[in-house]
Amino acid sequence: MKKVALLGATGSIGAQALEIISAHPELELVAAASGSQPIDGLAPLTQVGGDLTELLERAGPDVVLNAVVGFAGLPATMWALEHGVDLALANKESLVAAGELALDAKRRGGGRILPVDSEHSAAFQCLEERPLETVDSLVLTASGGPFRGRSRADLGSVTPAEALAHPTWNMGPKITIDSATLMNKGLELIEAHFLFGLPYDRIEVTIHPTSIVHALVRFRDGAALAHLGYPDMRVPISFALTYPHRAATPIPALDLSQGLILEFFPPDEDAFPCLALARAAGEAGRTVPCILNAANEVAVAAFLDGRLPFLGIPEVVERTLNAIEGPAARDLEELTAVDEEARRVASAQTRALVHR
Ligand SMILES: NC(=O)c1ccc[n+]([C@@H]2O[C@H](COP(=O)([O-])OP(=O)(O)OC[C@H]3O[C@@H](n4cnc5c(N)ncnc54)[C@H](OP(=O)(O)O)[C@@H]3O)[C@@H](O)[C@H]2O)c1
Repeated sequence: MKKVALLGATGSIGAQALEIISAHPELELVAAASGSQPIDGLAPLTQVGGDLTELLERAGPDVVLNAVVGFAGLPATMWALEHGVDLALANKESLVAAGELALDAKRRGGGRILPVDSEHSAAFQCLEERPLETVDSLVLTASGGPFRGRSRADLGSVTPAEALAHPTWNMGPKITIDSATLMNKGLELIEAHFLFGLPYDRIEVTIHPTSIVHALVRFRDGAALAHLGYPDMRVPISFALTYPHRAATPIPALDLSQGLILEFFPPDEDAFPCLALARAAGEAGRTVPCILNAANEVAVAAFLDGRLPFLGIPEVVERTLNAIEGPAARDLEELTAVDEEARRVASAQTRALVHR
């Protein structure tokens, strides 16, 4: 039996995780948490909001599936890493924001991170802990979102409803907007850097509209391994929860008789500047990715509320990055202070942009 704590149980990942857990008798849901929606009776231990590490202490899980959205997932990520408990990580924002601090905690705790993000699950499987010197580069694929092919000029007046209509993945609102701006791929770039230890110049992003290839690793001998499958988050969720056994799922095997379109294009960084902003933030290091993430959370919430235009998202992020230096953080307290400062600046920049 593997005892699972599911954080973010009411979300898109949470619902799919519940389906996987209920299909596998060897997975026992011992604890569940949400941010505000009631979840009474979902698991023996439940918690709505508050400090999720208290729930984890009581539950003593073998694996924490962190499917909370945003920086709010950070304490649970750090708890699992410090305690050497397997971390099935959907909450990419925590790794992006905490970076080196999270890796230090992982080294101290001695546990594993099992990526749930589909691209990172794919890369994890292609890499299989092979020595990094055998790896030439990692390629993360992006569907391109609902606005793929549009120019910057075409994006000025797009609405939240249009941005929420993702072509290949059905996800929660924040990540769906991040997919539309390509910030999601930017966050994933930083996530991949910390997960796999590859420098940024060896991680590439490509637009692949059908989302069949999730990641591809090129090796130094000229071979490349890719991970293919229908876009369905139950596959990486199941892989992470049942690792290393690769349990069966109800997802059909890839059907080649129907034809597969495997096309790849370079991303349009003029129309979607978030990707380049994220790459630069990752390369800068220190708390710059934390600032990027915080500003993005503020800007995305403002866009969803109808307070900020779509192109205001990269603008708020860029202005916030320019306004704060991004010092190194020695601990979570210092990191949280930087996050809060970035949120204050991003909120002010949002108001300034709207009243321009
Ligand atoms: N959806 C996908 O296909 C997908 C794919 C890859 C990675 N991810 C990542 O997985 C994470 C979750 O995404 P999602 O699409 O499932 O989001 P979602 O549908 O918006 O769900 C978010 C979940 O987080 C909970 N939550 C929010 N704030 C919380 C807090 N302070 N404490 C405890 N729980 C809190 C929510 O609870 P309430 O319902 O009570 O607010 C909800 O259960 C994100 O980091 C995302 O980037 C998602």
